[in-house]
Amino acid sequence: MCGIVGYIGMREAAPILLAGLQRLEYRGYDSAGIALQNGGLPFMKQKGSVGALQAAYEESPAKMAGATLGIGHTRWATHGDPSDRNAHPHMNTDEDIALIHNGIVENYSLLRKELISEGYVFRSDTDSEVLVHLVDRIWKTDPSLGLESVVRAALRHVEGAYGLCVISPRDPDKIIVARKGSPLVIGIGEGEYFIASDAAPIVEHTNKVVYLSDGEMAVVTREGYQVKTIENIETEKVVTELDFSLEKIEKGGFEHFMLKEIFEQPEVMRDVMRGRVRIEEGRIVLGGIEDYLDRLKQAKRIVICACGTSWHAGLIGEYLIEDFARIPVEVDYASEFRYRNPIIGPDDVVIVISQSGETADTLAALRAAKERGAMVMGICNVVGSTIPRETMCGIYTHAGPEVGVASTKAFTAQVIVLYMLALALSKGRTISHDEMRLNLKELSQVPGHAAKILELDAQIQTIAESFKDARNFLYLGRGYNFPVALEGALKLKEISYIHAEGYPAAEMKHGPIALIDEDMPVIFIATRDSSYNKILSNIEEVRSRKGRVIAIASEGDTEVARLAEHVIYIPQASAQIMPLLTVIPLQLLSYHIAALRGCNVDRPRNLAKSVTVE
Ligand code: F6R
Repeated sequence: MCGIVGYIGMREAAPILLAGLQRLEYRGYDSAGIALQNGGLPFMKQKGSVGALQAAYEESPAKMAGATLGIGHTRWATHGDPSDRNAHPHMNTDEDIALIHNGIVENYSLLRKELISEGYVFRSDTDSEVLVHLVDRIWKTDPSLGLESVVRAALRHVEGAYGLCVISPRDPDKIIVARKGSPLVIGIGEGEYFIASDAAPIVEHTNKVVYLSDGEMAVVTREGYQVKTIENIETEKVVTELDFSLEKIEKGGFEHFMLKEIFEQPEVMRDVMRGRVRIEEGRIVLGGIEDYLDRLKQAKRIVICACGTSWHAGLIGEYLIEDFARIPVEVDYASEFRYRNPIIGPDDVVIVISQSGETADTLAALRAAKERGAMVMGICNVVGSTIPRETMCGIYTHAGPEVGVASTKAFTAQVIVLYMLALALSKGRTISHDEMRLNLKELSQVPGHAAKILELDAQIQTIAESFKDARNFLYLGRGYNFPVALEGALKLKEISYIHAEGYPAAEMKHGPIALIDEDMPVIFIATRDSSYNKILSNIEEVRSRKGRVIAIASEGDTEVARLAEHVIYIPQASAQIMPLLTVIPLQLLSYHIAALRGCNVDRPRNLAKSVTVE
């Protein structure tokens, strides 16, 4: 989710890089930096915005003067807090190689240990820094090699994802770039070339671009660019003409950030699991809680505290942890927990869930739990935010910056983390090695299923057209799909301003059934699981009162089609996996209804992305 820029040409590089970084700020940032080549390799990097970096540059532009080649980076932390030292570029010890990196180096802790044992001194907590020392190590063993060869050799040691740029005055006048899982684009100008993680910083200079594919590297000079695979086989690239506006590029071609973030989910799901889900070994690696896992397994009770969408993720977490790990779980609104004098003590574990890591009530609940001696753990998206700083241990969701106020990809990332946590708590206790592997395998298939569900976007938009003027909606689900019903209703009300309620389907007859008439759309999450027949009866009850039924059902289910006005079919999966799939059509439905009503989807009225007041 970080941003990369690079420039090589005849013009002063620093202002071009800084302007490019500004174009990438929409991706979210916590720090930024640039490195230039002008005989030496001056660099500057710091915590905070690109504006702050620009101001620092303007105070002493002389050290960067005369450089017509450079690289720059905006960071959104994944490993290591936002700080000056964790900002990119990363430099080798001699400060004659500069490297910027997007992605995650999965085997970084092994590489780091190896390099430290050889005498390398690390100056950051990032996974990225290992890359620059690896390049340095290879170069030291054979100084006759060119920068391209040493970067290629270094990448052979790297597991994980990267988009990276490397420069060095030891082999000047070139930028080496490489891509695996993290996008990179080369912009082609007149005697000048631009590099970026997306086209946003490039469009103002040129509309001719070459997109690197996974597993490719390029050497970019003032004379041109040469693309090869990481295995050193030359590849032919097609030059593409951009016809996007800048705004469209920032939103990845989508109309709104929310839609972009919904569509990012398959990729985000892979990022959340990257390096953590080890199917063959039948285990989950969660570095942030490793030292606390035994204490977590011994907890008498787990209490999950959160607000809004994160609270819904917590409810799914309750089902998962109780189901897999057989540890009792309670889920509380953070705002209720903190004010109701909760009975909590050293045998309890309190897990707080928060996308922003700054929600005031969640933070206060965490402090209240800590005061009472409970062990406190966090599940957060924003690295280095207040909640992860105050918890004893935690798991980051790695969903990347979420710009749309309505939470979508952060929610699915939270649920995956909770699924992984539940399995980690079960290991050696409540499930066998084979069961573990089966569950992990199923989890690893979720991104593929999610991508398939996103193909239903046009169908869901058509459904949204028929219901956009409804005044109320009811969302019903059972078991694992009950929290999804709550989440579906919240998504709709917050962005479309239509009143919506979520209920456990069986509760309908205890009140909400009175609301049902021909003006009441009812969304049933009716996938095939142990309560499937019961939910079919609930659909019948609504139909007989003329309610309009939209159903989310398992592929191939003809029974539901007989009863519902619209059916959205999703791939079949186990009940535990289902919330990760059933929520996606509901996100899309809310989005389209809100967009059709002309609502400000990304910034709904009265709401804030991070609620730092009580
Ligand atoms: C709904 C939504 C909110 C947040 C809630 C908690 O789409 O985004 O309900 O989930 O304000 O925020 P975090 O997760 O940042 O603590």
